[in-house]
Amino acid sequence: MSEPRKILVTSALPYANGSIHLGHMLEYIQTDMWVRFQKHRGNQCIYVCADDAHGSAIMLRAEKEGITPEQLIANVQAEHSADFADFLVNFDNFHSTHAEENRELSSLIYTRLRDAGHIATRSVTQYFDPEKKMFLADRFIKGTCPKCGTEDQYGDNCEKCGATYAPTDLKDPKSAISGATPVLKDSKHFFFDLPAFDAMLKSWTRSGTLQDAVANKLSEWLDSGLQQWDISRDAPYFGFEIPGEPGKYFYVWLDAPIGYMASFKNLCDRTPGLDFDAFWNKDSTTELYHFIGKDIVNFHALFWPAMLEGSGFRKPTAINVHGYLTVNGQKMSKSRGTFIKARTYLEHLSPEYLRYYYAAKLGRGVDDLDLNLEDFVQKVNSDLIGKVVNIASRCAGFIHKGNAGVLVAGNAAPELTDAFLAAAPSIAEAYEARDFARAMREIMALADRANAWIADKAPWSLAKQEGKQDEVQAICALGINLFRQLVIFLKPVLPNLAADAEQFLNVAPLTWDDHLTLLSNHQLNPFQALMTRIDPAKVEAMTTASKEDLAASATDTGPQGNGELTKDPLSPEIDFDAFAAIDLRVALIEKAEHVEGADKLLRLTLDIGDEKRNVFSGIKSAYPNPAELEGRLTMMIANLKPRKMRFGISEGMVMAAGPGGEEIYLLSPDSGAKPGQRIK
Ligand code: MSP
Ligand code: ZN
Repeated sequence: MSEPRKILVTSALPYANGSIHLGHMLEYIQTDMWVRFQKHRGNQCIYVCADDAHGSAIMLRAEKEGITPEQLIANVQAEHSADFADFLVNFDNFHSTHAEENRELSSLIYTRLRDAGHIATRSVTQYFDPEKKMFLADRFIKGTCPKCGTEDQYGDNCEKCGATYAPTDLKDPKSAISGATPVLKDSKHFFFDLPAFDAMLKSWTRSGTLQDAVANKLSEWLDSGLQQWDISRDAPYFGFEIPGEPGKYFYVWLDAPIGYMASFKNLCDRTPGLDFDAFWNKDSTTELYHFIGKDIVNFHALFWPAMLEGSGFRKPTAINVHGYLTVNGQKMSKSRGTFIKARTYLEHLSPEYLRYYYAAKLGRGVDDLDLNLEDFVQKVNSDLIGKVVNIASRCAGFIHKGNAGVLVAGNAAPELTDAFLAAAPSIAEAYEARDFARAMREIMALADRANAWIADKAPWSLAKQEGKQDEVQAICALGINLFRQLVIFLKPVLPNLAADAEQFLNVAPLTWDDHLTLLSNHQLNPFQALMTRIDPAKVEAMTTASKEDLAASATDTGPQGNGELTKDPLSPEIDFDAFAAIDLRVALIEKAEHVEGADKLLRLTLDIGDEKRNVFSGIKSAYPNPAELEGRLTMMIANLKPRKMRFGISEGMVMAAGPGGEEIYLLSPDSGAKPGQRIK
């Protein structure tokens, strides 16, 4: 036997300002399966993670909730930990970047970089919110797109026309935090001298550390020239102050990857025999893998190895990059109910269904992975229940009835057990290479062979015949042994199924090498259903609940991320001033009529007290007989910019609710309201 490998594994640190969803879970489940596989094989494999707790988004969210950032991150950490545990993601440590170990390691790495001449400073001019007294990240500035004129666009790109620009190019810029007009202000920033590591990165990224597609993408960046990286932010900021530089903080992405080390350090400090230096020293012979999504490659494959090199630590053995999760072929969507939180899933379905489905679809590449909910039900039911569990449930009864639950000795089909034995190295190789889909295919092919063999032998018919009892026992004993082999191969993906099977089989926790032997003359425990089929109604209930989540928690639909990378355009928050700027009024519908040539529109003449308004509204399918609307009150936004339409100018908008088509309901005030009254 070769020496066990020593392996340290991480998943990206989830932001501490939002819930875990099934997209995140793709990463954590994938990493967990790989780690479990390594442990199953007898290697020393340590899996650490943490919440990514710093940055202005977290600071602002805590402020909005009226709690301290420390309270916010403690709450979120409890939520995240429970979600991971219930998905059977088995971290050896789940820490936080807002921790003493991380402060020390970040300071250490920074000072080493500084002392080696890798830190530069210079003045940067940036938008500053004069009310909030803080510099504004691009994400917190909104204005009119300089290219196409669309209003209300973020400071770095336009969602309408796709243009990218500097926030200073925006017309009519406003702070998304206070609504104030930002002013330009200078401040000293600290930069990490990334270009100094150009040669190292060019060779490191091509040395088998990255998938080809990722290495090619990085080549493009490397060839177009690296820039110095801005690693500081000014107060107020939630993070670590830069040593010796009061009022200056490390940018969240500086200390986030150091959080991997810090989480491991925290574990070492309470685990006798686990040596931090052995894993992180420059000459370490241990392996280090980071699992990440494709959106954060530059941080992990450029900045991070350069920081490690520049501060005298080892670099990762490899960065394992995966694609994004889509649901039913599309980006996860809150309105379709496919933006599914980890907790919502768990309230309806067992974690192993999803673990298996992800495994069955995950290859080594960086392609996106689609969770097709129909296929999910079909595949899990057919493979796990129809193929794997079925073997045990077909055979167990005969053994309990005919032989008091004892597996007889012998091997009823050596060609079959040989085939299982012969497949094992290839399955292991697929796991090792993170080609879980291939591993699952090969395992299911074995399950098919086992089922076909049992069907052919038909112990249920033999059991009815005189003198065939020995044959029945021999067939079923092998059936149970083949089931046991499958469970051994599937254990990294399905740890609960494995635990239940171990209980039924009456064996110690199975390891990979157990597949080399068969059980004989062995007493089983009573059989209990190991797994039940997915009821499609539960999936339906889960998507319905996900839609309700959206309605229930306005705060959770807000922007996620560290405030600079991602955005969720569905319901961006507005502050009180933006709300107060809406002139919402009670309007009397004086006249409602069809519009020649328009299929969807009605023309409304509205009385708002001191004036009359002409408004076109797309509510015709709900009110095919417009006269019925005349004389009733509704609500309108009176200060919307007039819009020129094919049929005339629309001077505002009436308010209605509902999904559309015939289901549109015009809102009305209670009786007693008067036309022109403003909403308070
Ligand atoms: N905090 C940073 C990572 C810092 S690592 C030093 C971050 N956090 S995140 O919460 O936005 O994402 C955590 C991980 O989940 C990332 O690897 C990200 O790519 C992954 N995913 C987030 N949404 C995802 C999908 N929809 N699909 C697949 N993975 C996704 O980035
Ligand atoms: Zn635009």
